[in-house]
Amino acid sequence: MAAEPLGTQSIQAVAPASAPDLERAAAPERAPFDEPVTDWRQRHLLDVDSLTRDEILRILSTANAMAEVLERPVARTPALRGVTIFNLFYEASTRTRSSFELAGKILGADVINMSGSGSSVEKGESLVETLNTLSAVGANAVVMRHPASGAPWLAARTIDGHIINAGDGQHAHPTQALLDAYILLREFGDLDGRKVVIVGDILHSRVARSSIWSLTTLGAEVTVVAPRPLLPASMAAGAAEREHPLALPHVRVSSDLDEAIVGADAVMALRIQNERLRGKLLPSTAEYARRYQLTAERVAEAAPHAIVMHPGPMNEGVEIGVDVAHSPQSRIEAQVSAGLAVRMAVLFLLIRGGA
Ligand code: CP
Repeated sequence: MAAEPLGTQSIQAVAPASAPDLERAAAPERAPFDEPVTDWRQRHLLDVDSLTRDEILRILSTANAMAEVLERPVARTPALRGVTIFNLFYEASTRTRSSFELAGKILGADVINMSGSGSSVEKGESLVETLNTLSAVGANAVVMRHPASGAPWLAARTIDGHIINAGDGQHAHPTQALLDAYILLREFGDLDGRKVVIVGDILHSRVARSSIWSLTTLGAEVTVVAPRPLLPASMAAGAAEREHPLALPHVRVSSDLDEAIVGADAVMALRIQNERLRGKLLPSTAEYARRYQLTAERVAEAAPHAIVMHPGPMNEGVEIGVDVAHSPQSRIEAQVSAGLAVRMAVLFLLIRGGA
């Protein structure tokens, strides 16, 4: 028997949801994907903090419609035919890069992948000059990952095309935050008052920063948990139990996972970013795992319906137990699958939108 293509397995894993906040989804019959979107006003996606609650829900409901496209026998639509998208990745990626590439191709766009190595960056070409070159060869949109926080903002000022931030330094990862919100909405219908715990290397995590913003904008109560050296200074100062010092509503900071996880609706573990720690801040991985690893015993203290999330890539056995990562409560594979529909929605709205 012929092996099932990997893409089909992924696509089936993210069937469209009937959650209330996702049901605004414009079904393809009602809003054909080959017509312009006249009511979308964002030209770029740099971070979720520039999106209103309605705009976040619009992306996620469009992702739900895209999930319907992915269920078709031939998962293709010509919505972005004639569009050229460059995936410009200066940092390693598996999930984000592959799903953006597939998303563009399913929507009918021409997608060109570029990384720092093998491009003229190796000969000393600057980011601005690289972007000008991509613009000159006809890029309509650039999806970029860069180790420098803020690089996508520079890009948005440099070229006329659409810029989509696929992760910049320690700063922001908006499509990861959107797909995480999509998974939570599919699970719970709405996020009002839902308790979400984010535990791990908050200091270096662009996922944490963007997810805190999107989840609280959708009504969730977020508790970030980390040892003080792995909290940003602004949060570490308030690590006892007071509200986030930057005055983000509905965000609490704790260094006690065993206390914070009690009754949680969802727990998201973050990777220890060894490449950014460079041996500092975390003297003992074993001690970290003892106090902060998502173990089955700790997850048992969350709500009975609680789900477990991780943006990946995982250090199994460090921030998350192997059994927990692959348990029935885990939505980690579903997160990866949802990334395709969410990134299709982002490309479609930005490129076919009015801005
Ligand atoms: N979550 C995430 O950004 O994964 P990749 O680095 O594999 O893209």
